[in-house]
This record gives sequence, structure tokens and C-alpha cells, in this order.
Amino acid sequence: MALREVLHFPDPRLKLVSEPITEVTDEIRELARDMIEVMYDEPGIGLAAPQVGASVRMFVIDTEWSDEEIGKHPSVIINPEISDREGRITWDEGCLSVPNYDATVERDAKITLRGQDLDGNTIEEQAEGLRAVCIQHEVDHLDGILFIDRISRLKRGLYIKKRKKQLAEERE
Ligand code: NI
Repeated sequence: MALREVLHFPDPRLKLVSEPITEVTDEIRELARDMIEVMYDEPGIGLAAPQVGASVRMFVIDTEWSDEEIGKHPSVIINPEISDREGRITWDEGCLSVPNYDATVERDAKITLRGQDLDGNTIEEQAEGLRAVCIQHEVDHLDGILFIDRISRLKRGLYIKKRKKQLAEERE
């Protein structure tokens, strides 16, 4: 099976607001399976559907799999909602859709995530630290927001300049 390609900034599809999933079809299941494979393959700790060009509200996450003793435990979250936000935390973030860049982003330190899994079961999870940061980062993708939209205009401008140069070099 061919892996789906991860879209990179400045692909305009990354700016779209994704649609809620009203029914878990075979197509959605296949998308979720592919997204898990792409996440581990890249590798990453989270991947949102728009990053592979599917404008639907779903993401996959596994924040601890690089620890061999813990192993792989991917979660698929459909129609996620974040509530009970508490405190603030800063984290050095990167993104599979934003090549060769990371920056410190401020987010909520503790959150509650609600959504559904592929079987239609309700998911509720309290998260903090890296897990909370990653969930907020992935939900942002569903609203067309990248982590570089949450850094200073100056830093973002510098990144965009660097990225344009990179793309020009790739074309040469
Ligand atoms: Ni990302």
C-alpha cells in the first residue's frame, strides 16, 4: 500500500477548516490506518487528516512510542473538542508539515479532550505536558492553524523567508 504524502507549508490545503465526520465509513477507517502508518514512518507523534490532504476532523496521536519499553499505542480521535483548559506551558514544537523548523509555542498546560473513536465510542482524556501540547497542535491543524501561526510575526517572517529559499533551491 502506498503511503499518503504529507503536505508541506505553504500548501494552501493546510489552511482549510476541516469538516466534522458524521459517519465512520470504510474510507475514514482506511484514512485512519494510513495516517497511523505515515505518523510512525515519518516519524512523528501526531498527525492530523488535513496534513495528508483530507479535510476532515480526525487526528492520530502516540506521544510515547519512541520509548521501546512502552511501544506503540496509537489513538484515533474523531471530532475532537478541547475543554477545561488550565494553566500555561511553553514547548519547543515542530511539525511534519513545517520542514526543518521548530519554535517555542505557548499553550494550555492541562486540558480535557473529548471526541469519538473509530467504533463511535466517546473518548474523554485529561492531558498535560507533551500530550496536551500535541493534542492542541493537532486540533489546530483541523482549524487550518499551524504552530508558526502562534509565534511572533518576526519569527514567522524569518521562517517563511528561509522556507522560500529552501523551495527555490529544491527547484534548481
Ligand atoms: Ni503538525
